[in-house]
Amino acid sequence: MIELKSNREVQNIAGSGRIIRKIFKVLHPMIREGVTGIELDQKAEEVIRSCGAAGSFKGYRGYPATICVSINEEVVHGIPDKRRLMNGDVVSIDVGVKQNGFHADAARTWMVGGVDDERKRLIAVAKDSFDVALSKFRAGWRIGDLSEAIQVYVESQGFQVVREYAGHGIGRDLHEDPQVPNYGKPGRGAKIEPGIVLAIEPMVTAGHFAVETLSNGWTVVTKDRKCASHYEDTVAFTEDGFINLTGEAE
Ligand code: MF3
Ligand code: CO
Repeated sequence: MIELKSNREVQNIAGSGRIIRKIFKVLHPMIREGVTGIELDQKAEEVIRSCGAAGSFKGYRGYPATICVSINEEVVHGIPDKRRLMNGDVVSIDVGVKQNGFHADAARTWMVGGVDDERKRLIAVAKDSFDVALSKFRAGWRIGDLSEAIQVYVESQGFQVVREYAGHGIGRDLHEDPQVPNYGKPGRGAKIEPGIVLAIEPMVTAGHFAVETLSNGWTVVTKDRKCASHYEDTVAFTEDGFINLTGEAE
């Protein structure tokens, strides 16, 4: 069942979203050769604590860290560890924050140093697929319209979208109905009504979209071990369109 949010509830999610913006602002300049996932995780935790909030991920189904750090062929749910980032690595940082009882969830993918045009393009296409899909949003759209818009854009750029993982409703729970796949057919699924809040999260692969989970039970990697990129924001739909609660400027 989809829970529609009141304005006040959306404001609470926005509050958590502001903390996520702050975390990205602090973490982005740390994405350099030599930094470890654990260092990034600790910094994120520090920011969250200084805001009097809580991380959404730690303890969620036993997840052991505050953020996910997914490197190169790792798509999502990479567990921060002692590996040092290297020039040319493609690193996705995913973070969830809960304040006043409401979650926000977002992810960014950045490249470490170096210049690699194809990797840069992979990163840009994940973010652009999000922007392109939302720029097309119209009243009366269903989830399938959003899903299809993401898929069509990504495939037009020569990349693929992961099938096994999807975006989701978000609010009092980190994962609520509905699911928001990154592939689909127009006109299918629930109507995107005012009061719906969605974490929309395209996961884009340079090679085939097939993924598998490593033996740690969490880290999702591409089967062909080619690079992946992940972009996610928490978006509230209103009478006047939508508000991105974790995106760049408010
Ligand atoms: N953004 C991801 C998601 O919505 C992150 C979840 S990590 C977990 O699934 F640890 F919380 F599972
Ligand atoms: Co999410």
